[in-house]
Amino acid sequence: MTETLPTPASDQTQTTPAGAKSKSWTVLEILRWTTGYFKEKGIQTARLDAECLLADALGTERLRLYIDFEKPVAPEERDRYRALVRRRTDERLPVALLLGKKEFWSLPLEVTPDVLVPRPETETLVEAALQASAKMDAGLEIFDLGTGSGAIALALAKELPEARITASDLSAAALEVARRNAEQLELASRLELLCGDGFEPVAGRRFDLIVSNPPYLAESEAPGLAPELAHEPKQALFAGPEGTELLCRIAAQAGDRLKPGGWLGLELAPHQAEQVMGWLREAGFEHVTAHRDLTDRARVVSGRRPPTGD
Ligand SMILES: C[S@@+](CC[C@H](N)C(=O)[O-])C[C@H]1O[C@@H](n2cnc3c(N)ncnc32)[C@H](O)[C@@H]1O
Repeated sequence: MTETLPTPASDQTQTTPAGAKSKSWTVLEILRWTTGYFKEKGIQTARLDAECLLADALGTERLRLYIDFEKPVAPEERDRYRALVRRRTDERLPVALLLGKKEFWSLPLEVTPDVLVPRPETETLVEAALQASAKMDAGLEIFDLGTGSGAIALALAKELPEARITASDLSAAALEVARRNAEQLELASRLELLCGDGFEPVAGRRFDLIVSNPPYLAESEAPGLAPELAHEPKQALFAGPEGTELLCRIAAQAGDRLKPGGWLGLELAPHQAEQVMGWLREAGFEHVTAHRDLTDRARVVSGRRPPTGD
């Protein structure tokens, strides 16, 4: 990679992606070259990754690159870029961890190796929770179990200014990242962060809405996963031998932590939806529903605690 990645032969004349000589590398040439290189290396999101890394190396916004296609890239900018490209291919670090940031629900979030990088499909859970909240009174009490970077909790805090949000995680290091994100977004005063297993940190409390994107991969799936996932915390990804262990616990215990008429939304893998819907019905939930993501796959399952009864 280092021999072929845009490296100036001299200040004036450099080897182009095609091997010919030109005065300098433009943004577009670099993007084209890197996209091809990433594809060769089996990186699925080759062009997007190249754009995100180049924008960071140039200290600009990704969309700005489209205006600057013909602009030459300075040698020191190319050096910064080359280092990022090398880590992307050699270490298979996800772009978000290389840059230390990821946008979720249009919120800029810090991410570190202590948290799961928030995924776009998780916005399906935020959307479903917001729909459910629209039928409830303002001033909701919401619990996000397994908050990681704080992605879901902070998106809900942003959208529901009167809601009080509690978020938990088994990982104290993840909660530190969530706390920094909450402070950065000026939402910290409305977010309570608690460390602990499952519902233990909120024993005896009741919420209007409970949301969770728990780990839901089976340990046996590990060998077939993209190498990028090795950089994310195991306890954010793997639930146990079945993959559904924490989903099952949440389905069984959430009813006791919800107010009558309260709503539970769980993210899961599409093939787990039927089973989890069955568990919710067994636990007494009503209006059990599957919500589909942008690729039309069941991503979230929800249910309501009956409005009467304790
Ligand atoms: C799939 S990640 C989701 C992170 C974040 N909510 C998101 O959607 O991007 C699951 C999170 O649950 C946490 N976790 C795993 N097991 C847990 C448990 N038993 N109790 C509480 N949190 C747990 C992990 O540390 C991780 O931060």
